[in-house]
Amino acid sequence: MRIDIISAQPYLMESAFSHSILKRAQDKGLVEVKLHNLKDYGLGKHNQIDDYQFGGGAGMVMMVEPILNMIRDLQKERTYDELIYMTPDGDLFDQKTANQLSLKENILILCGHYKGVDQRIRDHIITREISIGSYVLSGGELAAAVVSDAVIRLLPGVLGDESSALSDSFQDDLLAPPVYTRPAEINGWKVPEILLGGNFPEIDAWREAKALEITKAKRPDLLDEDSL
Ligand code: ADE
Repeated sequence: MRIDIISAQPYLMESAFSHSILKRAQDKGLVEVKLHNLKDYGLGKHNQIDDYQFGGGAGMVMMVEPILNMIRDLQKERTYDELIYMTPDGDLFDQKTANQLSLKENILILCGHYKGVDQRIRDHIITREISIGSYVLSGGELAAAVVSDAVIRLLPGVLGDESSALSDSFQDDLLAPPVYTRPAEINGWKVPEILLGGNFPEIDAWREAKALEITKAKRPDLLDEDSL
């Protein structure tokens, strides 16, 4: 998979992609992530990428030309399965969307800044708009890193234990059951007995029951009517 991210401040995302699982995924050649600085396509001697909005109002708007020129150049190299715009008024990001995106070959993500991008980019170029939550960030960069992380960790070979992405919260619309490690007791706090016994069918059943119990308590909206 390849992810190209266009931003006016690409350095905000550098750290997210330079450590731990996301770095290892790139080192192993499982994903290629390229951060692009929109200012490289800025207009005039000041590399302008934004301008005042027509009709008046506070806040600058990202201009069509730099974005369009950069995207057209990137499209000369590859065909994108999705051109995503990060925006608080996009579709709410969830595990299903992460799963869908993890099956794509080439993804381009555009990060908004200031008042956002000229609507004509959204109308004519963007194929999907994503929000990571009902709040406003200072830009789409952190949101793009969140989406990329959720997608990349699903790619085959990225996680050491191949099955662990499948047992995450939200896969199967259930939150994850609690987990414990050594010691089996500390300060009188005990690990549930069943996890210590080695009866794996019973442990699986316990985990499923706990996942359901926790989901009912914390996120009943994830469950169908008949599981409630
Ligand atoms: N840009 C600013 N806020 C955002 C959000 N909540 N999700 C995605 N992109 C954003």
